[in-house]
Amino acid sequence: MTRPLCTIIGFGPGVGAAVARRFVAGGFDVVGLARDPARHAALAGPGITLRAADAADHASLTAAVPPGAEVLVYNAYRASMATPGPSALAPADLAADLAVNVVGALAAAQAVLPGMRAAGRGSILLTGGGLALSPTGWLPAASLAVGKAGLRSLAQTLHAELAPAGIHAGTVTIAGAVAPGTAFDPDRIAEAFWDLHADPAGAFRAEIIFKG
Ligand SMILES: NC(=O)c1ccc[n+]([C@@H]2O[C@H](COP(=O)([O-])OP(=O)(O)OC[C@H]3O[C@@H](n4cnc5c(N)ncnc54)[C@H](OP(=O)(O)O)[C@@H]3O)[C@@H](O)[C@H]2O)c1
Repeated sequence: MTRPLCTIIGFGPGVGAAVARRFVAGGFDVVGLARDPARHAALAGPGITLRAADAADHASLTAAVPPGAEVLVYNAYRASMATPGPSALAPADLAADLAVNVVGALAAAQAVLPGMRAAGRGSILLTGGGLALSPTGWLPAASLAVGKAGLRSLAQTLHAELAPAGIHAGTVTIAGAVAPGTAFDPDRIAEAFWDLHADPAGAFRAEIIFKG
């Protein structure tokens, strides 16, 4: 029997690989997309294959997303730093960050939606950050805060639109710094993605705020 497919856009050694491991353990095959998959080759293995794609290039991203995924995880991010804060942030840097942090997520969702609509089910899970909730905690990261706020709104609006069709859009908002062996261990965070995916139709949550 073929295993269901989980596509992770923005695959890397932290949250991306941990979510991949969790979905493989749950019976999925995983395709991970990153700009430089060779850099992450050691993280591939049984159930996990890697492909090249740049989430900033929405046409090529859409082409690289495999059809028929039951789960899409959008984990890519781009963070231009500006000191002391947004007054020093180049508008072009904010635009380039938003292309990955928000627009790529929309393009990816639209790439998988036809298959999910045909199947009458599917999960679109976006990786959020605590800056969406508290944007002033780290002013040099203002661009990422704007992006994560936008991503959270995208998750909530997709959720409201798609839940009646049996498709579960939502976000795991990671409210802390990811580090192995801490309360924000990637494997613990990955469990939140699995829990969100596992919500039954009719009881979909739009968000899990992961506080460690
Ligand atoms: N780390 C934290 O403390 C923290 C805290 C809160 C929230 N988060 C969120 O958690 C998510 C994962 O963070 P992480 O640090 O654990 O990273 P990760 O999952 O280890 O790796 C993310 C991967 O995304 C890929 N990527 C970046 N830009 C991309 C693009 N334009 N197109 C395709 N792939 C791209 C990178 O690989 P390539 O360079 O090969 O493309 C990178 O390996 C992010 O959304 C982040 O905002 C992280």
